[in-house]
Amino acid sequence: MRISVIGCGYLGAVHAACMAELGHDVVGVDVDERKVAELSAGRAPFFEPGLPEVLERATASGRLRFTTDMSEAAGAQVHFVAVGTPQTAGSHAADMTYVDAAVTALLPHLADGDLVVGKSTVPVGTAARLAERVRASSSGADLAWNPEFLREGFAVKDTVSPDRFVYGVPAGAGGERATALLDEVYATALATGTPRLVMDYATAELVKVSANAFLATKISFINAMAEIAEATGADVTQLADAIGHDARIGRKFLNAGLGFGGGCLPKDIRAFQARADELGLESLAFLADVDAVNLRRRAKVVDLTVELVGEVEGARVAVLGVAFKPDSDDVRDSPALDVARALHDRGASVRVHDPEANETARRVAPELDYVADVDSALRDADVVLVLTEWKQFRQLDPAHVAELVAELRIVDARAVLDLGAWRAAGFEARGLGRP
Ligand SMILES: NC(=O)c1ccc[n+]([C@@H]2O[C@H](COP(=O)([O-])OP(=O)(O)OC[C@H]3O[C@@H](n4cnc5c(N)ncnc54)[C@H](O)[C@@H]3O)[C@@H](O)[C@H]2O)c1
Repeated sequence: MRISVIGCGYLGAVHAACMAELGHDVVGVDVDERKVAELSAGRAPFFEPGLPEVLERATASGRLRFTTDMSEAAGAQVHFVAVGTPQTAGSHAADMTYVDAAVTALLPHLADGDLVVGKSTVPVGTAARLAERVRASSSGADLAWNPEFLREGFAVKDTVSPDRFVYGVPAGAGGERATALLDEVYATALATGTPRLVMDYATAELVKVSANAFLATKISFINAMAEIAEATGADVTQLADAIGHDARIGRKFLNAGLGFGGGCLPKDIRAFQARADELGLESLAFLADVDAVNLRRRAKVVDLTVELVGEVEGARVAVLGVAFKPDSDDVRDSPALDVARALHDRGASVRVHDPEANETARRVAPELDYVADVDSALRDADVVLVLTEWKQFRQLDPAHVAELVAELRIVDARAVLDLGAWRAAGFEARGLGRP
């Protein structure tokens, strides 16, 4: 099938490449010339495991191309809209400028029978509003909403074989047609038994934001327990293990630490709250607390660091990790980068190493000192902070680190180190919610 993907960022580039890998004929459209040039050359414009290989194969197959020219979307039957919906400056609401602009630019190129498929995460009500615009255009096209659940770091796998597909479709024959088209797009995964849930627009939109709200709440729940553990001498990791054995609770997403970040969870829970406010509902007021607990963890790591070094002005801080999570170079709303910047602002000399995110971080926080390897970050440090749980940081050897640093002090903000082993090696070692 001929497919267009409008917006080729973390979601869209992966989606376009994977759809071509599945045998479709795909054109990716983006307004960012640099990104389109990279993708056209078969290079991934960001770090995502497995994406370079898929891009290379798909580009070589001749089934994938990228352009800045929206008119090249003409001729595709299905048009995925995957542009950004960031937080609006000065408000918690989602900024819909990009989605609206993308749909406006696409409308003149639609033909009878085309299906516009929203993938971006949007406030409930968006699909119904955009469907009216699509149907009012002279094309005879229709619209579906097919929210995306991929996790950065696992984006290729999650796109090719997701946990489930959600289709938000119009009632009646239009819905049946939309469902049939999406089934054709996702035929490979559906053939392996991937669940597919068909529902109305509003429910599909809400599935996405409620899933993110639930995940954020689970993380902040365990981080709230970490705060209690810190005040009482309890160990939140043992607590998580023990309550996680209850199948109704589950152990996943119960790792206490520096909290969530990235281009989705923080802005999505804020936008969801803002939408509930618009609807006159207090139902999501608790998400303000979820957000507050999450942000307090960043402040706590700054406080722990200050406590360890005494005088923060001039202290040499080794920051290991600035990506919001491992296996990604994404630093959008990164808790790690926030902590690094806060310490820099308080006068510390911050040296950062991230295996993949040095360059993305440098673009938004050029004031920090980025180094190419772990040892350079550690050398002569007064304190070491593990802020992103990259595998190479989990495997740090206390004896090796001790040879490089000026002072034996470490903060494990991601609960990935054996604090006992570090203490045995002479370190003053601190974690979150752990004695
Ligand atoms: N990144 C994720 O893990 C993820 C997962 C699920 C859902 N989402 C949602 O997907 C959407 C995209 O997220 P992302 O992380 O890929 O964002 P992103 O910022 O990486 O990518 C958005 C892309 O859209 C392009 N764009 C903006 N306006 C355009 C226009 N008018 N025409 C064509 N291209 C345009 C931008 O240049 C950019 O490349 C968001 O709504 C996000 O919440 C993201």
